[in-house]
Amino acid sequence: IKNVPFFEGYEQDEIQSVKPLFKKRKYSRGTLLFMEGDAGEECYVIETGLVKIYRIDESREITLALLDDGDYFGEMAMMQKGLTRSATAEVVEPSVIYSLNRRDFVHFMETNPKMCLKLLEETMERLRKANDQIYDLTFLDLKSRLVKAIIRLADEKGIEVEGGTQIPFKLTHQQLANMVGSIRESVSKLLQELQDEKIVTIKNKLITLHRQNL
Ligand code: CMP
Repeated sequence: IKNVPFFEGYEQDEIQSVKPLFKKRKYSRGTLLFMEGDAGEECYVIETGLVKIYRIDESREITLALLDDGDYFGEMAMMQKGLTRSATAEVVEPSVIYSLNRRDFVHFMETNPKMCLKLLEETMERLRKANDQIYDLTFLDLKSRLVKAIIRLADEKGIEVEGGTQIPFKLTHQQLANMVGSIRESVSKLLQELQDEKIVTIKNKLITLHRQNL
């Protein structure tokens, strides 16, 4: 776990002492780690990969977050005794993930103020993003929401390529629609517009953002 950014700043002996508590597993694309409403007995830290956090009704899905290297999830059901999973977690790119059971998690938090502060800081960051999501869904039209979602992904996870910033995993039109609270057909039409305006190029489901044309 020494390569996981979450443990950055920890001494080697501190890492060695917590290492045995984490179980490491590989997951293939499409694995459901847990579903909204399940009882939760573990939380997870991603070494490498991509996990989608989402909620669904009968026919639609809203993506709450895409988590990758160094991110953790599943801590809410750990912290909130008696409550179930607040969302579903699905592996969307092959991933290596560590799990930690509730008892060890609680012990870890009780004995490790540095980790508590980190968790609190990240929780605030997630609240800030959730507030942005509420704002966007309430006040912005679909095109602005789509552009903002692409900019956010490029800022957070993008890699610099010639002429722009590429989001380094494949995104279908349906997945983008799930992120911005819309339907595939509308998103496809707008993605065409964005390509005509040279704001994005899409090749092989990989999106490159050209900020200079925004
Ligand atoms: P838990 O409720 O145990 O299971 C679902 C997990 O998804 C939750 O813990 C969090 O770790 C994560 N999660 C839920 N909502 C968000 C969000 N808005 N942003 C990032 N992660 C979230």
